[in-house]
Amino acid sequence: MHRIFLIGFMGSGKTSTGKRLATELSMQHIDLDAFIEARYCKSVQKIFSEDGENYFRNIEQKILLEVSEYEDIIISTGGGTPCFFDNMHLMNRKGFTVFLDSSVETLAARLQTAKVQRPLLQNKTEKELAIYIASLLEQRRPFYDIAQLTITANNKNFEHIQTIKNAYLDFLHKLKQ
Ligand code: S3P
Repeated sequence: MHRIFLIGFMGSGKTSTGKRLATELSMQHIDLDAFIEARYCKSVQKIFSEDGENYFRNIEQKILLEVSEYEDIIISTGGGTPCFFDNMHLMNRKGFTVFLDSSVETLAARLQTAKVQRPLLQNKTEKELAIYIASLLEQRRPFYDIAQLTITANNKNFEHIQTIKNAYLDFLHKLKQ
């Protein structure tokens, strides 16, 4: 059970948090999108445009099933990962799940400069982006809310790393009892 899944909306800091947490806990780190890109020799953007979102969701689930068997691992998932198939329940069974919750304003500000490489956000104006984020976040929140820990992470000063670390150690302790 030495496995942590970081979930949350695009731009919520799952990858940077995962890397930092992995160093703190001496665990390995995997970014699910980067893993898919390396395995399929194709960017997520290209998979979406050439093969479609359904195809992406299928391979995302397949790779999630594979990495959910790894030990001593922190997995930064994609923003949509928990919301398809029974992925959220799988992650809750296989490890400790952490939802990095950020406000729409924080996400919109971050994603405005990082939307180019994200297929779901391309070609949106600033106003359209904020509306889209608010609506998609509302749809996805019921899935994110099933996580075992929710952390509000509106800034990237990594104060939340210690909170996640302590909650995870507590989770391991309870498992042993
Ligand atoms: C997606 C989020 C992306 C990536 C894909 C779809 C989503 O990951 O998996 O573009 O549906 O929210 P990040 O959350 O790492 O940007």
